[in-house]
Amino acid sequence: MHLSGTSLLLLAAAASCADAVRTIIPKTSFNSQADFDADWNYNYPWGTDHNGGARMDRGQVKFGDGMVTLTAKKVTGQKDASHGGQAIKINYLSGAIAAKEHFTVGKGGGYDFSGEFKATTTKGTWPAFWLTAVEGWPPEIDMAEWKGSGKISFNTFNTSSVLSWKDVTYPSPGDFHSIKTEVRDINQRDVSVKFYMDGQLVTTQVGGNFYGKAMYLIINLQMEGSSGSPGPTADTLYQVRNLEVLSYNP
Ligand SMILES: *[C@@H]1O[C@H](CO)[C@@H](O)[C@H](O)[C@H]1NC(C)=O
Repeated sequence: MHLSGTSLLLLAAAASCADAVRTIIPKTSFNSQADFDADWNYNYPWGTDHNGGARMDRGQVKFGDGMVTLTAKKVTGQKDASHGGQAIKINYLSGAIAAKEHFTVGKGGGYDFSGEFKATTTKGTWPAFWLTAVEGWPPEIDMAEWKGSGKISFNTFNTSSVLSWKDVTYPSPGDFHSIKTEVRDINQRDVSVKFYMDGQLVTTQVGGNFYGKAMYLIINLQMEGSSGSPGPTADTLYQVRNLEVLSYNP
């Protein structure tokens, strides 16, 4: 085939666009077990327990048709969890998943994390969509977190005492809401974090020294802990669909 100069220029432009944005996790990752296994592991990267009253169990994770459902159910007879030297009563089995990929903002780059979420704001329920450091801590970016208060929280931690946070009233928890977080390199030291809900920019925060640091992506339904207690006796569901991660890294 003969290509004119103009066609070659268009091809070159298309190729450089394709280089600029890569799909790291496609919207199909919750379609089947094979799709799930390509991108996700069960539980937290460090195990089944963290800072609340739920122990993660792969039986509490279901997916299909592009959607994952995490279900917390009340249980008895579990041994305590231990966090920061404290024993925590385990009153629930629930679900957590973590991306196999680690996310490191590169030079002039970053990521978009997006999806549609149906999350409860009932006392004692603590669903979250967040990034946390692979080595040490921080970075941590809470792209969406619901702590049983009727609000949704967006947070970036420079240290445990120096953090940006924004809590806003969460409308109609029975409906899906779109969440998008744009994480970008600023100066090869800090990263900007733009938090969107339902297509509107809610807040912009800066992660100090987040550049070049690998982060885990976690979706989990923790219970009690920071969301208050006791939590509900009926099952709690947390659903995420059309989850996508795009990379703008070089
Ligand atoms: C975190 O560090 C960045 C970079 O120094 C700074 O711009 C930002 O204001 C800090 N956040 C807080 C809450 O102080």
